[in-house]
Amino acid sequence: MSDAGLFFSRQAPGSEQALRSAVYAGEVFQLAATAATQALVIDARAALAAALADCGPDPRVAARALSGEEFFRRMGALRRLFYTDPRFHDHLRAVVAAAGFSVKDVAFDPLRLRVVDHLGHENPSAAAVYYPHRDTWYGHPSALIVGWIALDDLLPEETFWFFPRNFAAPAPNDSEIFDYDAWVRDGWSLKIGWQDPEAGRRARYPRFTGATRPAPAVGFGCAAGELLLFSGAHLHETRSHALGRTRFSLDFRLVHLGDAAAGRGAPNVDGRARGSALADYVRGAVG
Ligand SMILES: [Fe+2]
Repeated sequence: MSDAGLFFSRQAPGSEQALRSAVYAGEVFQLAATAATQALVIDARAALAAALADCGPDPRVAARALSGEEFFRRMGALRRLFYTDPRFHDHLRAVVAAAGFSVKDVAFDPLRLRVVDHLGHENPSAAAVYYPHRDTWYGHPSALIVGWIALDDLLPEETFWFFPRNFAAPAPNDSEIFDYDAWVRDGWSLKIGWQDPEAGRRARYPRFTGATRPAPAVGFGCAAGELLLFSGAHLHETRSHALGRTRFSLDFRLVHLGDAAAGRGAPNVDGRARGSALADYVRGAVG
């Protein structure tokens, strides 16, 4: 798994169960765009364009035309829309079904808009964006499957790194600081990041605490609408960049309820978070 060229599987296995098992074993899938991912990207880009219409024709450079506070406010409104709007929940169901999952058997932590700005790592309020972490350190079950979709074609420096050697090997971390119930006690503003631009300075986010970045770091470029699927137990890190434009992507979390109930999933080699986000997931079945 350490060779970048061989790391990403382009073809999903023939059955859903085989796909889930492969993800739990650490395989990372980079799957071609489908009609469902393309429809989601079109709707998401339209919402982005509408929110930034007064900043010129390209949402990717709109941040240059706004104060940091105003850009955060507008992105917060979009984060809320994508995470809570039933229309985007339906988009997500379609994306997951097109990837081969039985929607009635799964639950979702819905779509998160990610905004990785030019030199964003120099903003102290955004520091947590760049922490190496496993998503499972945030109170998700070991059966967690992460989906990730770019809204534009992206260079490797605009995406993130995997650290595949740490999939099955412990990494130093402070995940014991994370208690899901405390995280959402005062509502979901902190969880989704739609109201308080300073929350990133005050809240504590679980992170890799090693002195140096693990090696190898395996990165990737991608096309808009491609779907990455990987275990939430993978150690990964958003890359900082200075490309003069903003990276926009959507991600979501997916759990097969039968697997979670049976204790199936990726190995938990070092996670110590408390509480469970699963109760707040949106059920795949409608009605
Ligand atoms: Fe993550």
